[in-house]
Amino acid sequence: MCGIVGYIGNRPAVNILLDGLRRLEYRGYDSAGVAILEEGDTFVSKSVGRLAALEAKLGERRSGGSLGIGHTRWATHGRPSDENAHPHADCTGRLTVVHNGIVENHQSLREELQAQGHRFESETDTEVIAHLLEEHYRGDLEAALREVMERIRGSFALAVVSSAEPDRLVAARQYSPLVIGLGRGENYLASDIPAVLPYTRDVYILNDGEMAVLTRDGVRISDRLGNRVQKEIYCVQWDAVAAEKGGFDHFMLKEIHEQPKAIRDTLTGRLMEGGAGPAGAGASAGSARAGAQPAPGGVRVEFQGLSVTPEQWRAFTNVAIVACGTASHAGLVGKYLIEKLVRIPVQWEVASEFRYREPLVDQHTLTVAISQSGETADTLAAMREARGRGSRVLAITNVVGSTIAREADDVIYTWAGPEIAVASTKAYTTQLVAMSLLALLLGQERGVMGPREIAPFAAELRALPDKAAQVLEQSGRIAELAQELAKWEDCFFIGRGLDHAVALEGQLKLKEISYLHAEAYPAGELKHGTLALITDGVPVIALATQPDLHEKTLSNIMEVRARGAKVIAVAREDDREIHRYADHVMTIPVTHPWLAPALSVLPLQLLAYYTAVARGCDVDKPRNLAKSVTVE
Ligand code: M6R
Repeated sequence: MCGIVGYIGNRPAVNILLDGLRRLEYRGYDSAGVAILEEGDTFVSKSVGRLAALEAKLGERRSGGSLGIGHTRWATHGRPSDENAHPHADCTGRLTVVHNGIVENHQSLREELQAQGHRFESETDTEVIAHLLEEHYRGDLEAALREVMERIRGSFALAVVSSAEPDRLVAARQYSPLVIGLGRGENYLASDIPAVLPYTRDVYILNDGEMAVLTRDGVRISDRLGNRVQKEIYCVQWDAVAAEKGGFDHFMLKEIHEQPKAIRDTLTGRLMEGGAGPAGAGASAGSARAGAQPAPGGVRVEFQGLSVTPEQWRAFTNVAIVACGTASHAGLVGKYLIEKLVRIPVQWEVASEFRYREPLVDQHTLTVAISQSGETADTLAAMREARGRGSRVLAITNVVGSTIAREADDVIYTWAGPEIAVASTKAYTTQLVAMSLLALLLGQERGVMGPREIAPFAAELRALPDKAAQVLEQSGRIAELAQELAKWEDCFFIGRGLDHAVALEGQLKLKEISYLHAEAYPAGELKHGTLALITDGVPVIALATQPDLHEKTLSNIMEVRARGAKVIAVAREDDREIHRYADHVMTIPVTHPWLAPALSVLPLQLLAYYTAVARGCDVDKPRNLAKSVTVE
């Protein structure tokens, strides 16, 4: 998992490449490098560490060449080092490559190439591509890369240059994201849109197996066989500022505060007024698609462009949810919602486990794959496994044109906008909204819920943005609590039912950015072992937002308090009792208990954020992690 960029035009490439890499650093930051063509030669500079190290190394020695490629690395094959940093060159130094992905057959290719006399400089899988290019190069870089694509197995987004061809930049994609930015007299390529946004809003999104040849005057896309591909230009709606920090100290904090808007955007156009009548009255043919007629009163759920037929909605006998990390925690909330509202069995599993256990999915299963980036390798593999077993796949993702979006049968987008911080925040809350809408849609289309049953949920969903904004107003107090929490090395999260699902997300957030060890438990489970770790002062964060489980949760809070724990509770603002049980209380406005996770997670995100700041951590780029995990 890495970020690649490329530029061809009339301006010095180096500044544009560095700027693009800065915007892609969220994809990895173990090393960075650039290669720039200059007068029949290739200038290469690379450095272990963050982009700043490369910039320092470049110093005043900035090439004036106007064609170049760049790379920011998240190490997979070979430790972070100058040698393993991209770009990589062939033996002659004429052919240079940057790569995001993994060459699965790199070992056998390396042995073959070494036997032919090629000298390797690095431990990376990528370097085999440079030497393969050398083997196949006959003065035509595009033709050579096409042949190389046939030799390598695995995933790649590639950009290659030849010092003998100073007027073109060649790229290819297989299972790793790649966009081409279209300018005037100049063109760009990048792993992700924010890198090209300062220069253009018009992009091509490459599909698997496609190649692009960029010249100063145009871009030609072809398929694996060399046939010309006519592509639609995708006009990006975000502006460059939307991808910047917008006045906050960190992207994460900015993204936390964007949640009211992100939730509102994700709801937009999906809840239609109208529709009285008994449960099931709304479950008419094609009703998941825009254009179905709402009856007066009540609310219907609608999604543009879903292709599931009314018969198919009714024929599903079960649902499988696959995702990783934060997205999987959103999936667990989704499981509870679907089971509660629709009474259909839902299996939930982290994607990296799913495909290895012969999952029980078939043509009667609706598989829901959740992924912010739409590029997570494990989620993609799980989704393919489910499809291979005959299941229909519905993706919930934030990235239009992502691999998961393109491979799924249907997509529900979360309109969270670009999420830059490695720690996922607004993606999670919008995933919760999408899962709530999906649960209501399933109920509607299967005739379990009519417009009148949906209406109260719709009202609560529409109230979430304002309620979320209210929760975020507590940030000053939460920052103070974080000062205390930051002094500890261990802490525990407890909760029951949906509160437990949110506890899982709270502990992940805290761990990944503050490096404080945290564990989440169903509140009733502590006494089966972990209670032994509760001693004087140990922080326990207790979620108590579910009225039907409230008493039981209070008992569990008593259990830990009796052992000396310091309890920080998350509770509804109308909960008077909780103040007698907890040392500190972070409140959420009253909402439907099943929608509470979208609010109760907010104080936990803030707590994690301020704890990380208090501990001096690099909040947006936590150690060892990357934003988008495109390797299994
Ligand atoms: O892009 P995805 O939603 O598929 O990413 C899944 C996880 O890698 C991601 O949620 C990860 O757990 C985050 N760093 C959590 O904050």
